Amino acid sequence: MYSDPVQTEYSRLAKRYDSRWSFYINTTIEETLNRLDINQGEHILDLGCGTGVLIQRLLQVSPEAEVFGVDTCAEMLEIAKQKLPESVELKLGSADNLPFPSNYFDLVVSTSAFHFFRDPSQALQEAKRVLKPNGRLVITDWCYDYLTCKVCDFFLRCFNRAHSRTYGVAEFQAMMRDEGLQEVEIERYKIDWFWGMMTATAVNRF
Ligand SMILES: C[S@@+](CC[C@H](N)C(=O)[O-])C[C@H]1O[C@@H](n2cnc3c(N)ncnc32)[C@H](O)[C@@H]1O
Repeated sequence: MYSDPVQTEYSRLAKRYDSRWSFYINTTIEETLNRLDINQGEHILDLGCGTGVLIQRLLQVSPEAEVFGVDTCAEMLEIAKQKLPESVELKLGSADNLPFPSNYFDLVVSTSAFHFFRDPSQALQEAKRVLKPNGRLVITDWCYDYLTCKVCDFFLRCFNRAHSRTYGVAEFQAMMRDEGLQEVEIERYKIDWFWGMMTATAVNRF
């Protein structure tokens, strides 16, 4: 048992995560990949990488990439370790204090993790800090503009301490701009009747 509710939640879920959520994980990751432009040999960070499904796919579409993952849950990282090559560096750490040097990544990408972040502004600042000049940030998460996600957010806030909150397009766009990110674009879409998602892309212009 951890004092952090996210670690408690995901340490329990880790072994079942991939099979229990396979449709959701695979679909959101493909939607995210469709919105990524990856160039040869780039340094890529998966923020809240969980069991490493996105990292696996990144290595398939861009075998030359140097891919890193960070997650706050050791048990999720353990599953990721079992399926990824040793060349992938996986670190235990939090989005609000990333264990990476500044100006290191060409791309920081995150799927389905942002709604857990306790301090979203700090997480965006940290993502910006580790990005190189002109590096890209791509975040996919639930979108509060959809009624189903509003309802889900309400219940999770009442009954699940791991959950922090979800954001709508306008609010998320403003948050990213407030942190100095540029060329912010957000697309929202549904992956089935329930899950309403958004993918935000931005550039760290200097
Ligand atoms: C729903 S899972 C998503 C995992 C993976 N990105 C995916 O798409 O399958 C959310 C992940 O975010 C991680 N997480 C939550 N808060 C975090 C934080 N502050 N810093 C890093 N990881 C965090 C959790 O431990 C969990 O592995």
